[in-house]
Amino acid sequence: MISSLVLFAVFCSLARASSPPRRTSMSLHGYVSSIPSGFVDNGPADPNSFLDLRIALVQGDSGGLIEALHNISTPGNPSFGQHLSSNETAKFTAPSPQAVAAVSSWLQGAALNASTITPARDWLQFNTTVSIANELLGANFSVFTHRATGEQVVRTLNYSVPTDLVGHIDFVHPTISVIALINVERDKANKRPLGFLNEFLYSNPQAFEDITAGANPGCGTGGFPAGENWDAVTGLGTPKFDALKTAALAW
Ligand SMILES: *[C@@H]1O[C@H](CO)[C@@H](O)[C@H](O)[C@H]1NC(C)=O
Ligand SMILES: *[C@@H]1O[C@H](CO)[C@@H](O)[C@H](O)[C@H]1NC(C)=O
Ligand SMILES: *[C@@H]1O[C@H](CO)[C@@H](O)[C@H](O)[C@H]1NC(C)=O
Ligand SMILES: *[C@@H]1O[C@H](CO)[C@@H](O)[C@H](O)[C@H]1NC(C)=O
Ligand SMILES: *[C@@H]1O[C@H](CO)[C@@H](O)[C@H](O)[C@H]1NC(C)=O
Ligand SMILES: *[C@@H]1O[C@H](CO)[C@@H](O)[C@H](O)[C@H]1NC(C)=O
Repeated sequence: MISSLVLFAVFCSLARASSPPRRTSMSLHGYVSSIPSGFVDNGPADPNSFLDLRIALVQGDSGGLIEALHNISTPGNPSFGQHLSSNETAKFTAPSPQAVAAVSSWLQGAALNASTITPARDWLQFNTTVSIANELLGANFSVFTHRATGEQVVRTLNYSVPTDLVGHIDFVHPTISVIALINVERDKANKRPLGFLNEFLYSNPQAFEDITAGANPGCGTGGFPAGENWDAVTGLGTPKFDALKTAALAW
């Protein structure tokens, strides 16, 4: 009896030592309340399949970037017609060192080897399996098929991040976005990928339903200017893929 208790205790401490540190609290970071129209849910994604995940960190001065972009496109402004070098852009988009450190340490704790993919270090990327991603993000990655084209994407209807990282993470991709598909359509129509998404999205309210259906708590701004920055603005509502596609192709 005693020896089995001891064994049990040893087993427990071993198990504890080898499993990733448990986060006490997770916060819902992005969700859509229903499957985007035009898509069918084909069930959970294969837990052993790979996902190329990217985490967009909250940018240090996205307000400054918006102002600088506004300046260079405003006739009469001293900066009109100039363009931002990647260094100048990086000055605005760089996340705080605290954000980089906190998020990196979370991923290292889960034995994930993330690398930065932009000079400003505002994106962290890592390759992992669906089952690890589900656990890390409290998500349920599933296969969604776009009815009209048969195209399949692996997405989750919602995901969470550790509560203490909420202020550091803008969004995780791919999670709840469908914009990549729209870019595929644009590509087929020989149009450039969508750049300034916010402007596009806010100009096309017909492509959304139920303004209160989605949210991305913890996002300070609408996000800039990556084509994948859809998640930051899902607060607009549940995307109507077909309407969005029509709008995107006309833009
Ligand atoms: C995950 O999503 C699938 C559909 O893709 C659903 O059948 C299943 O119930 C979901 N699991 C959880 C835990 O929500
Ligand atoms: C934008 O232009 C105004 C007016 O010239 C200037 O004061 C401001 O510093 C500029 N902002 C940025 C971020 O370049
Ligand atoms: C951009 O920044 C890097 C590192 O800070 C520096 O080495 C490089 O010279 C800069 N380039 C320009 C064009 O300012
Ligand atoms: C981590 O990833 C980088 C680049 O993605 C790679 O060069 C490096 O070998 C990886 N390290 C480990 C320990 O897997
Ligand atoms: C992810 O890692 C697996 C196993 O190392 C590899 O087969 C796969 O090609 C990688 N995927 C990406 C997108 O790098
Ligand atoms: C998250 O998505 C799952 C389906 O995958 C659903 O069962 C669950 O209710 C959703 N949770 C929230 C908070 O939206």
